[in-house]
Amino acid sequence: MKVLFVCLGNICRSPTAEAIYRKHFESRKIEAHFDSAGTSDYHIGERSDARSIKHAEARGYSMTHMTRQVHAGDFEEFDLIFAMDKSNYRNLQRICPDEQLLQKLHLILGDQEVPDPYIGGAAGFENVIDLLEASIPKVIAKFFSSRP
Ligand code: 4NP
Repeated sequence: MKVLFVCLGNICRSPTAEAIYRKHFESRKIEAHFDSAGTSDYHIGERSDARSIKHAEARGYSMTHMTRQVHAGDFEEFDLIFAMDKSNYRNLQRICPDEQLLQKLHLILGDQEVPDPYIGGAAGFENVIDLLEASIPKVIAKFFSSRP
């Protein structure tokens, strides 16, 4: 399974999701490939936000992603695409090259959003990590369970 996380800048929420999911799936011995991308081109080629790196690393995650912009071909390449919020979801719907591929697209928290921490303090970055960690059992049950 190839899984893509998408936010606006690809420097805060989605690279954090990628790092968290990679570690938890490794420790649960579930095979999957994780990547992330942004709907905007604001930070292409940059490392993740220094605050995201600091908070994630303090909680045991390795942040190595280099920012890239999402593109239509990602709908072909990935099996699952998780948007961090509804605005990103709508932007992804717009670039989806084929209606059939829309079934790959989901909000990572179901009907809830992962709030953008970019403008704000440390609590926002901790909240991103809390919400993403809490999402893992639900995502596994919904998308990685072998039960019919
Ligand atoms: P992200 O946060 O979408 O979680 O990476 C943001 C990062 C940068 C900007 C907005 C949100 N920006 O406007 O530059």
